[in-house]
Amino acid sequence: MKTYKIAVMGGDGTGPEVTVEAVKVLKAAEAKFGFKLDMTDFDFGGERYKRTGETLPDSAIEEFRKFDAILLGAIGHPDVKPGILEKGILLKARFALDQYINLRPVRLFEGVETPLKGKGPKEIDYVVVRENTGDAYTGTGGFTMKGTPNEVAVQSAVYTRFQVDRCLKYAFEYTKKYGKKARGVGKENTLGLVGKTNVLTYIYDLWERAFHEMGQKEYPDIRRDYYHVDATCMWMVKSPEWFDVLVTGNMFGDIITDLGAITQGGMGIAAGGNINPQGVSMFEPIGGSAPKYTGMGVINPLAAICAAQMMLETLGEEKAAKKIDEAVRFVTANKMKSMAAGKMGFSTSQVGDLVAEKVAE
Ligand code: IPM
Ligand code: MN
Repeated sequence: MKTYKIAVMGGDGTGPEVTVEAVKVLKAAEAKFGFKLDMTDFDFGGERYKRTGETLPDSAIEEFRKFDAILLGAIGHPDVKPGILEKGILLKARFALDQYINLRPVRLFEGVETPLKGKGPKEIDYVVVRENTGDAYTGTGGFTMKGTPNEVAVQSAVYTRFQVDRCLKYAFEYTKKYGKKARGVGKENTLGLVGKTNVLTYIYDLWERAFHEMGQKEYPDIRRDYYHVDATCMWMVKSPEWFDVLVTGNMFGDIITDLGAITQGGMGIAAGGNINPQGVSMFEPIGGSAPKYTGMGVINPLAAICAAQMMLETLGEEKAAKKIDEAVRFVTANKMKSMAAGKMGFSTSQVGDLVAEKVAE
């Protein structure tokens, strides 16, 4: 039987609670679809940092390399200064394990409320491929004359051709496999590049040239669109049905996927994958640790369950992944009152049970 080694890192706040539900659903899938998940817990996060001063040590990264995937809950602790855990754990894992894709589906499920008037699951059904290793996230920077009236702060946005090409390659391949035509819900497979070629005339010029070169040469059947990032924000609200797969740099991808998440029902449902197609990938609900709800059993575990679903899809367990997707859609359409914490009509663990039971059926 195929066995996968999974590192489970519940993290902070409500992270561990939602992760328990994701694991519950994975166990239901494993029993039914004939593979095994060998799961190991890791306690990296704010509590451990407060105890030991340690975020995510190099030895943990080396340990993670022996796993097939990582399932993450959430990172962020109210007693720890912002930036320490984010940089020390989340970003460290992304960069050290070279998880160069951040895959963030923007899909509205039946039964989930969206703030977009007149839009439903048919219209809100696209994916953002966010580059995950470059841009201002890893560009150099610093201060001079700090604390004086002449203080200077610099932080550069950097892209290499290599980073851009490997991200585009993934995005084109993803579009070929999961674009709207491939999924039977549209006439074309379309990849849209989101940039800012009118101002960031260096880095997005590089992206645009690489995009059209690769598209023309290797993917002539995939339609190519280009959007400025500011306009993208408008269209994400006004005409999300235009989009199929979008690809963009790290910073723009971070920003537009929070907008995307709220249009799909919010942080209770939005999931993402930090993917290294040749290495160890890490899957996470994209909402934060929601510390004020910790331990109350009211937080929505669906985002974590959807992250686990993406993990199985990436590992190649596509049948099980499809089943979990269907189960989540069944639960949102027929059971839950709302995606918001405390308003679901069920507790955190009851929502996990509903999905797990459906998967086991
Ligand atoms: C995200 C988050 C992170 C990011 C933060 C917590 C570092 O906002 O995953 O989108 O900026 O990538
Ligand atoms: Mn973000």
